[in-house]
Amino acid sequence: MPLTRLDKLLADMGEGTRSEVKKLIKNGRVKVDGKTTSDGAFKVDAETSAISVDGRELSYSRFTYLMLNKPSGVISATEDNSQKVVTDLLEPPYSKMGLFPVGRLDKDTAGLLILTNDGDFAHSSLSPKRHVPKTYYVEAKGHFSSDIAIHFNEGIVIDGGYKCKSAFLDTIRLEADGIAAKLTITEGKFHQIKRMFKAEGGEVTFLKRIAFGEIKLDESLAEGEIRLLTDDELKYISELKEKR
Ligand code: URA
Repeated sequence: MPLTRLDKLLADMGEGTRSEVKKLIKNGRVKVDGKTTSDGAFKVDAETSAISVDGRELSYSRFTYLMLNKPSGVISATEDNSQKVVTDLLEPPYSKMGLFPVGRLDKDTAGLLILTNDGDFAHSSLSPKRHVPKTYYVEAKGHFSSDIAIHFNEGIVIDGGYKCKSAFLDTIRLEADGIAAKLTITEGKFHQIKRMFKAEGGEVTFLKRIAFGEIKLDESLAEGEIRLLTDDELKYISELKEKR
């Protein structure tokens, strides 16, 4: 790994802005390989140097993985000519890390979106062969059959004649004019859930992803907020990568 300035590395690792980390270093709170260094320009190897702040060892990881609670109205992309994209919600240091969304949620869909700069992970988790289950909370209007969960289980045929893989519909409320449910699907066709409910004679009015495989949306995140994945969530990510 090429050598990097200590202050830049600390800022990139989220320890503060460049001027905040410069202060930390000046105040003798940072150690490199056991020795206090007060020089922000000091060169370190991110992968091999042991760096601590106030005695807390920092662990460097080559890739970054964030959980975003995507608000409705924002596009799952890294750039767009006219509309707000999910990476516009990031601030430094994350806005400078080349992060991109793993897969897509429609503009009007909210909820769990993972952002990363790990192309291998994105590729393996999105591969149709992987069948990573994704769970959504959905509200739809329409007059649905009381057998709707069976229809989803048997495979809904959407427009174009494609028969979806078996999906699990956990009904929360079935009323005369609509439904609220949790739906788990293992594939990601374009507008899939909207098309599944359309095939049942209804229309999705609200859609929010609440789980991606074993990673559940952190309900303490307000819409638009991010957090780093936890160690357990990262373990699941490496399992997905290994299974490729
Ligand atoms: N299915 C949809 O219709 N939209 C999404 O955003 C995700 C799944």
